[in-house]
Amino acid sequence: SPKKTLDGKKVLITAGPTREAFDPVRYFTNYSSGKMGYSLAHVLQERGAEVTLISGPTHLKTPEHVSRINVTSAIEMFEAVMKRESEMDAVIMSAAIADYRPKEIFHQKMKKQEGSLFVEMVRNPDILLELGKRKDKQVLIGFAAETEHLEDYAKEKLRKKNLDMIVANNIAEEGSGFEKDTNKVSFYYPDGNFKSFELMTKHQVSEHIVDALEELFKVSDLS
Ligand code: PMT
Repeated sequence: SPKKTLDGKKVLITAGPTREAFDPVRYFTNYSSGKMGYSLAHVLQERGAEVTLISGPTHLKTPEHVSRINVTSAIEMFEAVMKRESEMDAVIMSAAIADYRPKEIFHQKMKKQEGSLFVEMVRNPDILLELGKRKDKQVLIGFAAETEHLEDYAKEKLRKKNLDMIVANNIAEEGSGFEKDTNKVSFYYPDGNFKSFELMTKHQVSEHIVDALEELFKVSDLS
């Protein structure tokens, strides 16, 4: 069994999509299955970390010895994360959080009407941006899911959200990103360093992310 290199570390991980209600029968969401985040939770736990998993709606089984908190919307995920972030040694945001939600939630089923339907969407809070503002000694890792300009957009998120590392996945690439069992990622760091990986299973990607987290802990424990 793996060495307990993360003994005593508290790690918060988010996974899955969020679901933004429109009326009693409809909602907006995205294709995240939760596989990437659940796999990370499993590997973190194997290495001895105390893992809290905040999850949007998925069909996945909770990894053993991981404490799971279920949420539905981005606002619920925001509240669940902010309630716990200050006691964490690291936060990894692998959830695919909806950037927008319907401005109005209808309490009755929306009936068909003549012509087009226009739905006004308003911005959801950016959880990672807020974590970046509050960060002190904590290690903060984000993801970037992009279909183009992967490197530029990932580096921009790394800087803007005050992260220690970002995992960039090109979701337009064959076998990569949402729902798949594999992923092709690159890691970017604030000092300009980066690492690019071949396509591999999400489990293998998780091993690399957790290796990187251990390195980041070494650096932050020294300072
Ligand atoms: O769940 P799977 O099917 O296994 O797919 C994995 C994945 C593709 C969902 C995952 O690997 C991934 O890329 N997750 C991040 C998806 C995403 O929303 O990326 P983004 O580039 O839109 O967001 C950038 C970062 O900010 C992410 O860490 C995200 O969690 C965070 N964010 C985004 C919006 C928001 N309102 N609040 C946030 O905290």
